[in-house]
Amino acid sequence: MSKSKHFSPTNPTRRDFVKNSALAAGGALLLPNFLAAKAHIDGDDTIKVALVGCGGRGTGAALQALLTKQNVKLVAMADAFRDNLDEAYKVITSDDIMDWTGAEGNVKSRVAVPEEHKFTGFDAYKKAIPLADVVILTTPPGFRPMHFEECVKQGKHVFMEKPVAVDAPGIRRVLEAAEIAKQKKLNVIVGLQRHYQKVYRGWVEMLQAGAIGDITTSHVYWNNDGVWVRGREEFSKKAGRPLTEMEYQMRNWYYFNWLCGDHICEQHIHNLDVGNWVKNAYPVRAHGMGGRQVRVGKDFGEIFDHHFIEYEYEDGSRMFSQCRHQPGTMSRVTEAFQGTNGSAPQPGVLLTRSGHELFKHDSRNDPNPYQVEHDELFEAIAKGQYKYADAENGAKATMTSILGRMATYSGQVVEWKDAMASNISLMPQQFDFKATPPVLPGPDGMYACAVPGVTKVI
Ligand SMILES: NC(=O)c1ccc[n+]([C@@H]2O[C@H](COP(=O)([O-])OP(=O)(O)OC[C@H]3O[C@@H](n4cnc5c(N)ncnc54)[C@H](O)[C@@H]3O)[C@@H](O)[C@H]2O)c1
Repeated sequence: MSKSKHFSPTNPTRRDFVKNSALAAGGALLLPNFLAAKAHIDGDDTIKVALVGCGGRGTGAALQALLTKQNVKLVAMADAFRDNLDEAYKVITSDDIMDWTGAEGNVKSRVAVPEEHKFTGFDAYKKAIPLADVVILTTPPGFRPMHFEECVKQGKHVFMEKPVAVDAPGIRRVLEAAEIAKQKKLNVIVGLQRHYQKVYRGWVEMLQAGAIGDITTSHVYWNNDGVWVRGREEFSKKAGRPLTEMEYQMRNWYYFNWLCGDHICEQHIHNLDVGNWVKNAYPVRAHGMGGRQVRVGKDFGEIFDHHFIEYEYEDGSRMFSQCRHQPGTMSRVTEAFQGTNGSAPQPGVLLTRSGHELFKHDSRNDPNPYQVEHDELFEAIAKGQYKYADAENGAKATMTSILGRMATYSGQVVEWKDAMASNISLMPQQFDFKATPPVLPGPDGMYACAVPGVTKVI
């Protein structure tokens, strides 16, 4: 029987199985309310925040945390580089934060980061985490497993950005820590912000309830010009000396897989995650093709500039995925679904098989999902509730993008279970600015790229 029989756009049936994000069953679980208890004992309901990774997103996320209604204070900052930390501190304490968050005003009074709580270097996170109740993890994703593990070990609530790893060993670490976080009832939100975006929340719920029948085909896209490049020369000039290879890769992190995981992992994860969310499942295998045609040159490291993947789910349905970083090409970042009884050509829209509009979301007054992530997290924490366990889905969404990269790099069919079991670690042996990173340029200054048919990924 088609699921759509039970569907009404105004009264969508809830699925029995809610796999991602908020812990739906029974609403919030009550924690021993450490803040309420603390407020009762010492009159202090402050929620202390540490920021680990003070770049663009870290600055934005810290501001969003400070803009919530709760009594939030930023108490510690950690970054690999002092100049990045200083820039973030300057923005967060400036009189006008509107450019960053769309919110007016300033949050200076909520910033209490003395010099001795500003930490730099590879082990800065270890010094910042103990000082906080909530930790924001916004470094490049290669470091996420070790940073998340440390937060959970120390019993901290976490907001962490996607992706949450770059390789299978990292994914397994996050999954293990996610289990412990659940046992400790630590709220964890992952910055796959479509889960906190009104247009997606309603649309996906209706799709899961069978609004257009069974989903047979999914199309997901992240095609655009690409992102920044941080050139070696530019940073050597600023430093007044040649950078070590480790310093250079850390600055230009997007182009090195041990830090970034390739752009399929870094950005396209958002759309792959929506594909999985709608299907309520993760793919069982993938094959595809990819390469680099346009973004070639010394500062483009080792990543591809395009990937196309066909993912297969257990029920035989397919997700077709495209991601491209090539300037001047068509831009499309979205998701679309075909069902047995209709289609969903873009987020917030449902059509019948004959093209009649079944539902259209009006986004005009929707809140900013980046702010919603923090509003919901801090409200739950202040109320002593355990509501968010995003790490498992964050890890499996990341794994979906790693599976895609394995398929395009190898040119083979890659099974989810084999990819998950892979022991190939992309991470360096040693974290030190003088240590040797896992990939090095050749004599011509160029980095080797995967070669389909030759490169081994498992
Ligand atoms: N959800 C979203 O829409 C969204 C948007 C932008 C970025 N992000 C994610 O946020 C993360 C950061 O991206 P960004 O754009 O802010 O990059 P960025 O380069 O601006 O910032 C990263 C910061 O982390 C620091 N860093 C690197 N290694 C570190 C370490 N080991 N310890 C401490 N600090 C370290 C860097 O020095 C830098 O200041 C990425 O995972 C990215 O995917 C998510």
